[in-house]
Amino acid sequence: MSGAPGDVRTPILDLENVTMTFGGLRAVDGLSFTVFDGEIVGLIGPNGAGKTTVFNCVTQFYKQYEGTIRLTNDGRAVDLRSVPVTHVVRHGVARTFQNLDLVPDLSIEDNVLIGAHTLFATGVIAHLLRTPRARREEVEMRERAAEVLDFLGIAHLKDLYVAGQPYGVLKKVEIARTLMANPRLIILDEPAAGLNDRETDALDALIYQIRERFNTTILLIEHDMGLVMNVCDRVCAINFGKFLAMGTPATIQRNPQVQEAYLGKDEDL
Ligand SMILES: Nc1ncnc2c1ncn2[C@@H]1O[C@H](COP(=O)(O)OP(=O)(O)OP(=O)(O)O)[C@@H](O)[C@H]1O
Ligand SMILES: [Mg+2]
Repeated sequence: MSGAPGDVRTPILDLENVTMTFGGLRAVDGLSFTVFDGEIVGLIGPNGAGKTTVFNCVTQFYKQYEGTIRLTNDGRAVDLRSVPVTHVVRHGVARTFQNLDLVPDLSIEDNVLIGAHTLFATGVIAHLLRTPRARREEVEMRERAAEVLDFLGIAHLKDLYVAGQPYGVLKKVEIARTLMANPRLIILDEPAAGLNDRETDALDALIYQIRERFNTTILLIEHDMGLVMNVCDRVCAINFGKFLAMGTPATIQRNPQVQEAYLGKDEDL
């Protein structure tokens, strides 16, 4: 998405004046920005800027935020606050976690299937009774899991336990789980953290491929500025929970307020 003047872009996610406080601390402070359908948008800011808190508000882990978070999917706008946290994924929003959220004693395939269980049309009882419909559904989900794992290059590892796998594999398992949900919007919290240089380089291409193959929008938090600059169409910079600037990676990198936010921190812009 070029963002060129005259583009007709459809918003998919709208934050309007979102504020989230913990005790006296305003972790997110009057934040507004829009993500358009098909974009890859980076959310950046120094440690503690409020990025993960933004994601937790979007995914409704936190409900007690002020302001509005709206998702527009197939032309229908939904105020996400009205959606229970467990149903957000059914509205097409899937996420990964800054600290991985996988089940160590399950296989890679089973961890990936967890991403699909909320989408099953049949209920738990039907699955326990193994009704024909439930069995059909399970076969479909396993086929989709196989496709997703193959796309991510980890199909050969599917029967291994998650416990003991290298970080690069675990990150892919989390991404695979989001893809099972057939998402319209994927939100990735520091996908490059803990990856080596080779894996980070591969992630650039992977993020593009996810957008193309699964026809999604991607919002990502990332400290690796090389990755942000390479893959993002636009970047939103925040500090102390407040909006600083939003624009192309190059404009954001040159922005004096953004540069100042990173000064004195152990991070490079
Ligand atoms: N559950 C919580 N309870 C209290 N304070 C919190 C909570 N979660 C986050 N905070 C505080 O809110 C601020 C923003 O935290 P957040 O985790 O959103 O930052 P971040 O931008 O994701 O940082 P990082 O780059 O280090 O992951 C920080 O000051 C943090 O200590
Ligand atoms: Mg964070």
